[in-house]
Amino acid sequence: MSHAPRHLLVTGGAGFIGANFVAHWRTRHPESRIVVLDLLTYAGNRANLDGVPDIHFVRGDILDQPLVEQLLRDHALDGIVHFAAESHVDRSILGPDAFITTNVLGTHALLKAARAVWLSGSGVPHRFHHVSTDEVYGTLGPADPAFTETTPYAPNSPYSASKAASDHLVRAYAHTYGLETTTSNCSNNYGPFQFPEKLIPLFLINALEGRPLPIYGDGMQVRDWLHVADHCEGIARVLEAGRAGECYNIGGGAELPNIRVIDTLCALVDAAFAADPGLAARFPCAPAAAGRPSASLKTHVTDRPGHDRRYAINCDKAMAELGYRPLHDFGRGLAETIAWYLANEGWWRAVQDGSYRAWVDANYANR
Ligand code: NAD
Ligand code: DAU
Repeated sequence: MSHAPRHLLVTGGAGFIGANFVAHWRTRHPESRIVVLDLLTYAGNRANLDGVPDIHFVRGDILDQPLVEQLLRDHALDGIVHFAAESHVDRSILGPDAFITTNVLGTHALLKAARAVWLSGSGVPHRFHHVSTDEVYGTLGPADPAFTETTPYAPNSPYSASKAASDHLVRAYAHTYGLETTTSNCSNNYGPFQFPEKLIPLFLINALEGRPLPIYGDGMQVRDWLHVADHCEGIARVLEAGRAGECYNIGGGAELPNIRVIDTLCALVDAAFAADPGLAARFPCAPAAAGRPSASLKTHVTDRPGHDRRYAINCDKAMAELGYRPLHDFGRGLAETIAWYLANEGWWRAVQDGSYRAWVDANYANR
């Protein structure tokens, strides 16, 4: 019988998915102790957790094994939910080292800490949940069946290779030492608090500010879009009912080529401006402010090196074993996400600091 943890160490809990998960778990388990460990890299933001009551926040590094052991002991935690990572594929292409350090060595440090605290002496009931990605499975052709949990690993970017390595370490600690682990591999998330380097928030903000929408290659790459709330529900179900030693795919059931995502986003921005005349005054550089289509900003640029063509997730296992279902329709979820960014302009302005500008210049300069 697998242990269902209640009191959690959430690594990377000030990032996009981590912060959404902490809020989700707090609502679902008001009695739970939650300790968030986050280094607050460019992608982490303490303010992402402002609305969540009763969390203990620690700014620190997952590579700091003594710190992790102390947190597990001092707060009597019986679960780790491991989100902390370098998560952006383009950054892994320009600078892979940080990905190996955080995603591989960092995950290993966490595993060592969990083993030291939970498996010493007579042992403590526990669960180590590792949040991973569908990118570890590589790329699909148009007619290939969707990834299942038994699809062979074939990572193609430094990011996905580092995540694959971390998945293997988790598996090895379960197999060799008996650490009770679960892993979830999910598809592209979208929703509130996503850092504006990823497709949807980047293109939304560019559309509001009248900047080009840089479509890599022909824009026909396919991703399966998963609302972050559905992802959080999936992880909660794995923690509560998943079997130790197992992996679960979590998908959104919304396989779309990038160009369709971009056209939908542009149409929703145009509709928002048509419905709210105040937006034109707030965002005077947006084409929509002058009644022109946001899609006029679409610009095809040099493709991402090694760009995976298609991801698709088969999540039958999570559906059958855990009752998981993605509940968010993509069009409605995207409209809600756009509304969140329009209502939280202060949030995305604050995260666009000097290092963000430098990143945009470096990534898009020679395309
Ligand atoms: P994110 O980049 O928004 O957040 C990562 C968080 O980890 C940040 O808060 C950052 O400060 C923290 N962090 C980084 N290095 C750290 C370290 N050494 N010690 C402690 N904290 C550190 O990432 P995200 O999009 O929320 O992704 C979370 C997890 O989900 C990642 O493991 C990622 O690989 C995985 N994932 C993401 C997606 C997606 O679509 N975003 C899809 C599949 C899987
Ligand atoms: O599939 C899960 C993965 O999804 C996660 O593991 C990663 O952490 C997450 O970043 C995401 O990776 P992608 O590379 O798919 O996401 P991104 O938002 O960077 O890009 C989505 C698609 O849009 C991809 O095909 C590349 C394309 N794109 C992206 C950017 C930033 C563009 O065409 N132009 C851009 O400027």
